Amino acid sequence: MKLWGGRFSKTTNSKVDDFNSSISFDQRLYKQDILGSIAHVSMLGKQNIIPLEEAKIIKKELQNILEDIEAGKIEFDVEAEDIHMNIEKILISRIGDIGKKLHTGRSRNDQVALDMRMYVKDEIIKIQSMILNLQSVLVKLAKEHTKTIMPGYTHLQRAQPITFSHHLMAYFEMLKRDYERLNDVYKRTNILPLGSGALAATTYPLDRYFVAKELGFSDITYNSLDGVSDRDFCIELLSAISITMMHLSRFSEEIILWSSHEFHFIELDDAYSTGSSIMPQKKNPDIAELVRGKTGRTYGDLISLLTTMKSLPLAYNKDMQEDKEAVFDAIDTIKMCLPIFTSMIETMTVLKDSMYNAAGGGFTNATDAADYLVKKGVPFRDAHAIIGKLVLYCIQNNKSLEDLTLDEYRKISPIFDQGIFKAISLEECVNKRNIIGGPSEEIILKHIEIAEKFINEEKSLYS
Ligand code: ARG
Repeated sequence: MKLWGGRFSKTTNSKVDDFNSSISFDQRLYKQDILGSIAHVSMLGKQNIIPLEEAKIIKKELQNILEDIEAGKIEFDVEAEDIHMNIEKILISRIGDIGKKLHTGRSRNDQVALDMRMYVKDEIIKIQSMILNLQSVLVKLAKEHTKTIMPGYTHLQRAQPITFSHHLMAYFEMLKRDYERLNDVYKRTNILPLGSGALAATTYPLDRYFVAKELGFSDITYNSLDGVSDRDFCIELLSAISITMMHLSRFSEEIILWSSHEFHFIELDDAYSTGSSIMPQKKNPDIAELVRGKTGRTYGDLISLLTTMKSLPLAYNKDMQEDKEAVFDAIDTIKMCLPIFTSMIETMTVLKDSMYNAAGGGFTNATDAADYLVKKGVPFRDAHAIIGKLVLYCIQNNKSLEDLTLDEYRKISPIFDQGIFKAISLEECVNKRNIIGGPSEEIILKHIEIAEKFINEEKSLYS
């Protein structure tokens, strides 16, 4: 008989069991479910809601069940619907009537809300540590490339020279926000919903703060209807994951472009690229493409849960069982993407000369040439026009600004002198951009120092 079978005179249709059941995917919550139950039953004993001795027996058996699940000794049962009832059923089968007391003062509604919060908390920490690993690799590379000049782009047109280090540190900043966003999600997830009961709390004198403390929650929910029906923390997690994936996807897009013959800025390691079954010359950036592609499914997970929740009346509705696959899928996806993306970046070869040549070829120093005139007293708009004419001249004569002779410069404006050549050298263009946020070596080294401090401080929280 079903744990809830009392008021039914017929058994459920087997199709209904299959349809209703979530055990195929929520079994991954077994640990959270058991630890939650252990804390609950300890509290029931402490509060004399059930005899202390019986609470101890239940606790001990729950621990045994946990070990047995981890040893692969347990097969779950679709008919028992979900992980909560599967575990309760196993408990009762092992210790009989005493086991039937576990669910006192509790509903699956607050139980599942608890399990999900515990699970999300655990996973946030794992994702954050993967983000830190990627950030460490970015900083390590950034340190090696403070002098590696490359073109910076707007509209995917060469714009101004920067360094590879500057470019990498942009991603460091994005990932730092991602990391902090997860801290924020964690804060709001770290609230105990147990004690909300089915929807209207309970008549038993539960000590909710005790359970919160046992399970490491920083606070408890203050409205039982909200306690069982809130999935904001899942939606926030999915949105934080989606944003992180969006960043990885933008980076992937650049890796794909950079590894093309057209850019030729990097070469991916053989171990992190793939070939073509027909074209022998091909080396494809499949990993970057898949990360870019998988970003779509995490957006799907987010939209799916938002849509599931949008019309639900208070409090619990079975629709909410749909939260799990979206949350699990997004977590699995990002946890697959982050480490492989990190290794791909760590092992790629940076083609410094190609980057340098690309920075030189596309008039990326034109702004600096205009600034040179401004320093000589020419109003910026006039300087802009003069350099515009020079660029046109260069295009018509297939030259770059560095190729022109002083005479050619002076034909367009007599204000030019020998100083123009220093002013437009790529190294000068980069290192003159020496304010906070800029690409100069001095500034980037300071940024790297701050970044390393962040990484070390955060990593120390895990050890
Ligand atoms: N498997 C359910 C879920 O994931 C657990 C809660 C069921 N509650 C209920 N009243 N049917 O949401």
